[in-house]
Amino acid sequence: MNSHHPEKRLLILVGSPRRDGNSAALGAAAQRGAEAAGTSATLLFLDDYIQGFLPDLRHAPAPDDRYAELFLEHFLPSDGTLVCTPIYWYGMSAQTKAFFDRSFSHYAGEGPEPARVKARMAGKRLGLAVASEETYPGAALGIVHQIQEYARYTHSDFVGYVHGAGNLRGEVAADPRRPLDAAARLGADFFTYKYSDYRLETPRARNVWESPAPALRSTPGGLP
Ligand SMILES: Cc1cc2nc3c(=O)[nH]c(=O)nc-3n(C[C@H](O)[C@H](O)[C@H](O)COP(=O)(O)O)c2cc1C
Repeated sequence: MNSHHPEKRLLILVGSPRRDGNSAALGAAAQRGAEAAGTSATLLFLDDYIQGFLPDLRHAPAPDDRYAELFLEHFLPSDGTLVCTPIYWYGMSAQTKAFFDRSFSHYAGEGPEPARVKARMAGKRLGLAVASEETYPGAALGIVHQIQEYARYTHSDFVGYVHGAGNLRGEVAADPRRPLDAAARLGADFFTYKYSDYRLETPRARNVWESPAPALRSTPGGLP
C-alpha cells in the first residue's frame, strides 16, 4: 500500500455531469489514495471532452469536441484507468458509454494509426467505481459485466471495483460501507494489488498471499 510507483499513471474518468456528485467523490478519493501512494493520478470529467455520440463515419465526421484529446493524450498513455459512473437505468451513464463507443473511430480500420491505438489500448489495469441510489448489489452487475468484457477484449486486467450508495450530491460519504475509503485503497493499490484470473493450465501455489495468517499456517493436516 505504501510502495511508490511514480512511473505509473492512473487516469480517473468521471461519467457524471455533477462536479460535486457521488461518482466524482469516489474518483477524488481514489485520486487522494493514489497520490498518497506516490502514483500520479489525473481526474477528468467525461462531459468536458465528449459532446456527441459515435456517428456513421462514412457519412459524418466525428463530433466537434475534445474526445480525440481525451483518448489520445490521456487514455492511451495511461497505465491504468478507473472508470467512475453513476448507475443510470441499471447501466453506465451515456457519457461513460460514449467514451467506449467513440474509441471506435480511432482503432477501427487498417493502417499504422489503428494498429498503434490497439497496441496502446491493450494491457492496462482497469477499475470501476459505481454510485447508485439503490443499495442492491445486482443493480451494478450490468456495468461490472461490461467492464469485464472490455478488459477481456483488450487484454486488460480488471483489478478492482467499488460500489457506493447515495443520491444527494456527495451523499456517498454517508454510506456505512465506507466506499470512499475503499476507493482510496483502490487508488493506492491500483498498480500493486495482486491480480489473478486463472486458466486450467495456470501454474499456482495453494496460498494466495505471501504470508498467510498464522492460524492458517499451523492448521493440523493443512488446508484442502
Ligand atoms: C437518469 C437517471 C437514472 C438513474 N437510474 C438509477 C438506477 O437505475 N438505479 C439506481 O440505483 N439509481 C439510479 N439513479 C440515481 C443515481 O445513480 C444516484 O443519484 C447517483 O448517486 C448519482 O451519482 P452522481 O452524483 O455521480 O451523478 C439514476 C439517476 C438518474 C439521473
